[in-house]
Amino acid sequence: KAPQREVFATRGAFIFAAIGSAVGLGNIWRFPYVAYENGGGAFLIPYLVALLTAGIPLLFFTYALGHRTRAAAPLAYRTLSRGAEPIGWFKTGIAFVIGVYYAAIIAWAACFMVFSLKQSWGDDAEGFFFGEYLKMGDPGVSFEFVPGVLIPVILVWVVAIGILVLGVQNGIAGFSKIFIPLLVVVFLILVIRSLFLPGAADGLNALFTPSFDALTDPKVWIAAYGQIFFSLSICFGIMITYASYLKKKTNLTGSGLVVGFSNSAFEILAGIGVFAALGFMAAAQGVEVGDVASSGIGLAFVAFPTLISQMPGGAFFGVAFFACLVFAGLTSLISIVQVPIQALREKFGWGNKFSIFIVGGAMAIVSIVLMTTVTGLYVLDTMDAWANNLGIVGAAVVALLVVGWVLKGDLGKLPILRDHLNAVSSFKVNKLWLACVGLITPVLLVYMLVQQIITFATEGYEDYPAGLTGVFGWGMIGLLAVLAFALTLIRWPQSSIDATEAAIA
Ligand code: PHE
Ligand code: NA
Repeated sequence: KAPQREVFATRGAFIFAAIGSAVGLGNIWRFPYVAYENGGGAFLIPYLVALLTAGIPLLFFTYALGHRTRAAAPLAYRTLSRGAEPIGWFKTGIAFVIGVYYAAIIAWAACFMVFSLKQSWGDDAEGFFFGEYLKMGDPGVSFEFVPGVLIPVILVWVVAIGILVLGVQNGIAGFSKIFIPLLVVVFLILVIRSLFLPGAADGLNALFTPSFDALTDPKVWIAAYGQIFFSLSICFGIMITYASYLKKKTNLTGSGLVVGFSNSAFEILAGIGVFAALGFMAAAQGVEVGDVASSGIGLAFVAFPTLISQMPGGAFFGVAFFACLVFAGLTSLISIVQVPIQALREKFGWGNKFSIFIVGGAMAIVSIVLMTTVTGLYVLDTMDAWANNLGIVGAAVVALLVVGWVLKGDLGKLPILRDHLNAVSSFKVNKLWLACVGLITPVLLVYMLVQQIITFATEGYEDYPAGLTGVFGWGMIGLLAVLAFALTLIRWPQSSIDATEAAIA
């Protein structure tokens, strides 16, 4: 008999969980800079186009897949066609890899909450983060552990596994229902505070002054689509997994619209807050906003600490800022970890808790071994570049081309998904949706993928040694592809097959 499948008790629970997954580090530290670099105010146009032609339509696509089959990615793809199963495993593998490094970033942010109180970085935030805290060595791989990182990373995994053990409704949705509203409130306070800093207006001008020339640059459009994919957590298998826990009659497209627009609203809010703060910092240092603007790890762990030291009430601001990173990160981390947990549970017929401890434990161990040494940041950066720029784009291309073009049927299996969406949802999809997921998005993604492969192959990444990018970049993607086919060869337990067939019937 199949282990009991978990459910979200209400549509609201699902929406909170899905927003929890979507709103993450990407909203806070990625969007503001991507927008600034790619046309400022004018970037909002390609961004909106990407949201409407790729983001929301693909959210619908993945919701339909998970909800119709009530299965995680591998089994969901298998029900479309046996040959499509590796797509699901590849996405599951990408989720595994991202979870491994995402946990480390949350751990650093948790440490910086504490460091903010005393502003431990003194007047050298950069030296403090890379040198004193991470104790970075040379690019490569070492097994010299850094205790100040090791222990927090272990704690993050204990918390994440602890939440997941509580189950889909009480754990995932319950946690998101508390921490997403908390995040919004704390973040709003931060944004409002930063708007009153001297120089804030210059920051906002730097972000929003439109440069319309950018609209004719293909790179800008690619950046917009890339941001939407990453930000909505599409093509990591997450939304398939979450939608598989929904009750039979659930308004899918209505939920997708709420999730998509909430994520973008948070992103724009973050842009305002981050650039207001950067405007203050530039004014304090007597430089241009462009000289202090950055994204990612540098923004959060070097620029913001510097800013915290320069502003009145910096300690409070710092604790609140890093708390936001922790809340946003944790709700995303649990969504990523749940993907391999659910997929392997179905494949091997494991019980719920057993799968959580085996898969969560395995991810925790890999994370600890790779991320908490003096070379952790190099490995993290390499895995991030390949998993996000190559892995998910590749997975999305293959998924859309296979489902829409390769598989038997007029427009492949897309009409099945369309009919499923329309059978349960308020907002109906039609030819426009088919054009977005069947044509516009795949064409753009193929272009993006080819560009990215050429860039990595010819320029490498960040002057990293070929050994590092060979193993943790190309090698990691290759290993995931091989594993995807290997796992497909293993037989499914009859109970899992029966469950998904009953769902479709
Ligand atoms: N969507 C998240 C963000 O914007 C990132 C994320 C990526 C979360 C992949 C889960 C999986 O930060
Ligand atoms: Na996001």
